[in-house]
Amino acid sequence: MKRLTAREIVERAGLDAGDLVGRLTSAAGQEFATFYHYTIMEAACSTGAVDQRLSGIIADMRAEERRHFETLVERIYELDGYMPADIHVLMDLAGRPEAPNVDDESDLITALLDTERRAVDTYADLCALTEGKDHRTYRLVLALHAEEGEHEAWVREFLGEEGRARIHRGFRGRSPHVSRYRSPGSTE
Ligand SMILES: [Fe+2]
Ligand SMILES: [Fe+2]
Repeated sequence: MKRLTAREIVERAGLDAGDLVGRLTSAAGQEFATFYHYTIMEAACSTGAVDQRLSGIIADMRAEERRHFETLVERIYELDGYMPADIHVLMDLAGRPEAPNVDDESDLITALLDTERRAVDTYADLCALTEGKDHRTYRLVLALHAEEGEHEAWVREFLGEEGRARIHRGFRGRSPHVSRYRSPGSTE
């Protein structure tokens, strides 16, 4: 008997694979833009105008956003989808994420919290869509949801607000949840 592809399995479970891949591609675009913006933020922080504790948090989040992007791309290709070669198309799919103002610490923090909240919402929606249907994507987006929640908590912890992050320096930045779902060939 012919083995079903990942896409066929998802479709048999009642999901619209094209819609799912579109949503995952949009999320991958958001991750890529976030990785890019956090890279700029971290570089701007190196001038010393921003608290170095915040700079460390941005560095750790940036490392995890890159893994998030790569992990989503793996799943998109498993589902016989593909990433647009034109990066403008990807940014359009991601909703053209706004460029942060890196010259002001308070604007920077607002941008971080907005970005993380949006990411939490994106993965909450994907969890709701895939739960009980596409187990592999569900476990992955649940892991992404957990890490985005951690990111928000790291920033809130820096601000001295409630909701302490559970993962701290040394473990932060290593994607403890998402790494489990990466393909064996991944470098880290
Ligand atoms: Fe992310
Ligand atoms: Fe994040």
